[in-house]
Amino acid sequence: MKPKVVVTREVFDDSIAVLAGHCEVIDNQADVPYTPDALATKLAGCEGLMCALTDKVDAALIARVPHLKAVANIAVGYNNIDVPACTARGIQVTNTPGVLDDSTADLAFALMLATARRVTEVEAYIRKGEWTGWKLKQWLGVDVHHATLGIIGMGRIGQAIAKRAAGFDMKVIYHNRTRVAPEIEARANAAYVSMDALLAQADFVVLQMPYSPETHHLIGAAQLKKMKPSAILINSTRGGVVDDAALIDALKHGTIRAAGLDVFENEPKLNPAFLELKNVVLVPHIGSSTEATRRAMAMTAAKNLVAALRGERPPNLVNPAAREQR
Ligand code: GLV
Repeated sequence: MKPKVVVTREVFDDSIAVLAGHCEVIDNQADVPYTPDALATKLAGCEGLMCALTDKVDAALIARVPHLKAVANIAVGYNNIDVPACTARGIQVTNTPGVLDDSTADLAFALMLATARRVTEVEAYIRKGEWTGWKLKQWLGVDVHHATLGIIGMGRIGQAIAKRAAGFDMKVIYHNRTRVAPEIEARANAAYVSMDALLAQADFVVLQMPYSPETHHLIGAAQLKKMKPSAILINSTRGGVVDDAALIDALKHGTIRAAGLDVFENEPKLNPAFLELKNVVLVPHIGSSTEATRRAMAMTAAKNLVAALRGERPPNLVNPAAREQR
């Protein structure tokens, strides 16, 4: 008998086909998000779960699904999953590293360029029909080229951002929980600095570290005060690494110049004060959202899930200890 799996959100047909080759698939191509209770009900008797960052796989859910063997997240971040609770129950958890690095780095750059050159602000102005003619001092922005880029979180995506910065002749500094290997620093042409030095020196501070209890509100009022008043903050990682209320205050009072945000605390219900601000560029968690990348992410998750349910080690296993529990 084929193992049963639930796919919680709409995905591309090719990844459903990969799953269907090995599993009985309960899909959700209608894409109506499940409540925790509905998800637990769907998972009755299922061995596999392919889910998105919008699904909370917590201890309460895990306690209700005794047959579950593997959870394949369609994301590189997996803060929506209680990994220790899965490990304790021998449930393998996988993510989708690598396939989204370049698209996410592109979006971080798009936010840098859009905030620096006020792209969304001027676009709104021109659409309102308010443009009456060219002026020398009109809509002055700041340069991205030759500026200092401070990357917090020098993993694969941070490195992809640094690579792009070279094309803009930027000076790159970075901070990471642990300093990266000298060959990575050399390739990224990035200098390791303390968090305080990065905040004090960077013209653009880009956040690319994973979200965890340790990185919750890593950027709050105190850190924003350490940034230059001319600096721009980019959050292309996860809501919650920034204290949004503190950021709104900093943007209102000119503590920093601007912010470009792909992610928010309590998204999709973002703090309404953001909508009143002109010096913030807001996009709805689209960092990896190109067709090729989202397709690759869903396919990676499907292959991880199939491998786990076939008893093979999934390529992107985040909790190897789970295999020892079984
Ligand atoms: C997207 O936010 C991801 O973690 O893949």
